[in-house]
Amino acid sequence: MESMTLILFGATGDLAKRKIYPALYNLYIDGKLPSSFSVFGLGRRELTNESFQANVEQSLRTFSRREPGDETVVKNFSSAFRYSVLNIGHEEDYTKLLRLVEEREAALGATPNRMFYLSVGPEFFEPIAANIQSSGLGGADGWKRLIIEKPFGHDLQSARELNEKLSGAFAEQEIFRIDHYLGKPMVQKLEYLQRSNPVIEALWTNRHIANVQITANETVGVEERAGYYDHSGAVRDMFQNHMLQLLMMLAIHIPSNGSSEVVRLRKKQVMEALVPLQSDNIQSSIVRGQYAAGSLQGKPLVGYTSEQGIPAASMNDTFIAAKLEIDDYFWRGVPFYIRTGKRMQEKSTRIVVEFKEPLKQQGSQQSEQLEPNLLVIDIGPKEGITLQLNMKDPREKGAFEPMNIEFHTSSHDVREAYENLIYDAMLGDPTFFAHWDEVELSWQWVQPILDAYEANRIPLLPYPAGSYGPSASEELLARDGHRWWLDA
Ligand code: BG6
Repeated sequence: MESMTLILFGATGDLAKRKIYPALYNLYIDGKLPSSFSVFGLGRRELTNESFQANVEQSLRTFSRREPGDETVVKNFSSAFRYSVLNIGHEEDYTKLLRLVEEREAALGATPNRMFYLSVGPEFFEPIAANIQSSGLGGADGWKRLIIEKPFGHDLQSARELNEKLSGAFAEQEIFRIDHYLGKPMVQKLEYLQRSNPVIEALWTNRHIANVQITANETVGVEERAGYYDHSGAVRDMFQNHMLQLLMMLAIHIPSNGSSEVVRLRKKQVMEALVPLQSDNIQSSIVRGQYAAGSLQGKPLVGYTSEQGIPAASMNDTFIAAKLEIDDYFWRGVPFYIRTGKRMQEKSTRIVVEFKEPLKQQGSQQSEQLEPNLLVIDIGPKEGITLQLNMKDPREKGAFEPMNIEFHTSSHDVREAYENLIYDAMLGDPTFFAHWDEVELSWQWVQPILDAYEANRIPLLPYPAGSYGPSASEELLARDGHRWWLDA
């Protein structure tokens, strides 16, 4: 792999500590980092290189998915890390940094390939990108790439403005927008599930599929993020990005030789085919919820508005359920139901594909209830696939019984999303990053929901913490003769 310098803004932050350093370390153990590799960590705080390296080592001991192991391996890894104080708004700090980076590249005889990772709030994206450009940090002979993470804007207009500003310094193919759901191993496998299995491929259309259910339930509440979350809500925090990405990944049909361009093109086409919400159907398509007091595993939990830092009159959403339709050849008439919420009964991200009415066996009694066939794709925290079929022993008098064919991986074997994504960004493979077109189309689809929330045209329904959300979420499916599968 080509040599590379990673320039990390927000190096003393939480994401760096919990995700980025452990991911880099696991890549290092797997021999997936370039042999000539350096990291420049940047932050406001004064730190020596030694104490920064010690912090990095500490983060591996605390958060690495695998045991950090041998001390010399850890030391070798952390010796690639340097630290610099940087004030985001001071161009001279970038010029100083450029000198340090150049010195290091020269000492290693490395090509100046530079990856800028902005692990900072979105309000800093623009000044950083502009200063990278004007200081010459991004002007070397090698390649330059930018990694940023959601939120990409607060609504359609701010997302467009942000993109406009970023594109002054980086071309679209240089921007790697992380949506960490796209890094989850099972999400990355989705397209292969379909395209390498004729038995799935043949059924992947509206002729056989009754509906698709995409759920990302969390047991945690607002945690320590009141300031961010109360201005974001489930719709911006999870729905506009992670949930719509899951929908795209499930719904795309990729030819067997599909390149990353094809994947992204097909995802864009799915978004373009998503039927826009109208003022006359938005109320019946969206359920907006906020958790009230409740309990989880016997532990009492306060309601959202009693959480620290949340105003008592907050109208912020902590739950959203939606019905969506994709008006294309494959999916016309198949409802996609999506829901995500905080303080739900279980932590589970999964997709359930419900197949149409089971075949009625000739001569079988009408009263005999058959469950539909279900394909269940568990994305996290457990990862696996279950196919639910019907079975019956003809010699026994009993009824049909659902039979599950199951495959699950143990959580230790599962690579972290950030390992996959950082590795792909190093290779320059954009497949599992959000292209601007997808981001823009997602905001476009979500904007009427934001407007309706703002105007209070969709009721904010309370639900007890530790439940599956407001009962209106059940009704959303019941109206179509469906139900959420697998709720306990
Ligand atoms: C983040 C959201 O993007 O995803 C959080 O900001 C949420 O609010 C998290 O908790 C969920 O991620 P995961 O991987 O635990 O499902």
